[in-house]
Amino acid sequence: MSTTKKVAVVTGGNRGLGFEASRQLAKQGYQVILTSRDEEKGKSAALKLKNEGLDVIFQPLDVTSDESSQKLAEFINNEFGKLDVLVNNAGIYIDSPTGDNSIFDAKIDTLKQTLETNVYGVLRVTQALIPLMKKQNYGRIVNVSSRMGQLHDMGGGSPGYRISKTALNALTRIFASELQGTDILVNSMYPGWVQTDMGGKNAPRTPEQGVDTIVWLATLDDGGATGGFFRDRQPIEW
Ligand SMILES: NC(=O)c1ccc[n+]([C@@H]2O[C@H](COP(=O)([O-])OP(=O)(O)OC[C@H]3O[C@@H](n4cnc5c(N)ncnc54)[C@H](OP(=O)(O)O)[C@@H]3O)[C@@H](O)[C@H]2O)c1
Repeated sequence: MSTTKKVAVVTGGNRGLGFEASRQLAKQGYQVILTSRDEEKGKSAALKLKNEGLDVIFQPLDVTSDESSQKLAEFINNEFGKLDVLVNNAGIYIDSPTGDNSIFDAKIDTLKQTLETNVYGVLRVTQALIPLMKKQNYGRIVNVSSRMGQLHDMGGGSPGYRISKTALNALTRIFASELQGTDILVNSMYPGWVQTDMGGKNAPRTPEQGVDTIVWLATLDDGGATGGFFRDRQPIEW
């Protein structure tokens, strides 16, 4: 299944922003590996995009699993021998379905679970896949973060989600710092409030609008930004 195209992995690609990012990257000519922890959902999402004439294949990936991350790395190495783009999109927001989400009531288990996906998941998948970028000295890593992780005007509520996105932004800075001097660029972005299962129906943005900055960062020219945080293609405060 070798390809002359650039190869992109999107985590949590079965719905929401991950699905739309897969679509838009494929439209830009990328060979997209749409990943999902649920095989059936992932296969049907990839098939939908394939039926739109796009080069999208499915591979399983649960970002909380070392084994799953390693298996994906092996698959990509065997099939394509390289990776050009990684969109760390998979995320959960489980602070409190009942709306009572003050830090005074925060459950450590909720925080642990959130960090396992939103932070350690990104670390795990990036560690597994980055060798496929290093071997060609090219890569674009986009970490899908949130305004709620910004320290400069940190508010109350949703402590697990907020802390996870602040920590995710730290991962972006650390990876970017250790990759200085390479052509592997690592950035965080905030998609705005988007109509997805997580964002809800009242969100003002469509998924297509939400992924614009993801695609922009995934396709940055050599020497482009790294270690930054962006919204609508503009730098924003940490
Ligand atoms: N929507 C917004 O307004 C908004 C705003 C700011 C930031 N974000 C961020 O944007 C990203 C995408 O959010 P969304 O709005 O598209 O949310 P969504 O519709 O809830 O989709 C979340 C995706 O993450 C996947 N996922 C969760 N845990 C996973 C795991 N362990 N392994 C692999 N995949 C996993 C889900 O898979 P399942 O279907 O299997 O659950 C789903 O595909 C998230 O990081 C979120 O924090 C969203």
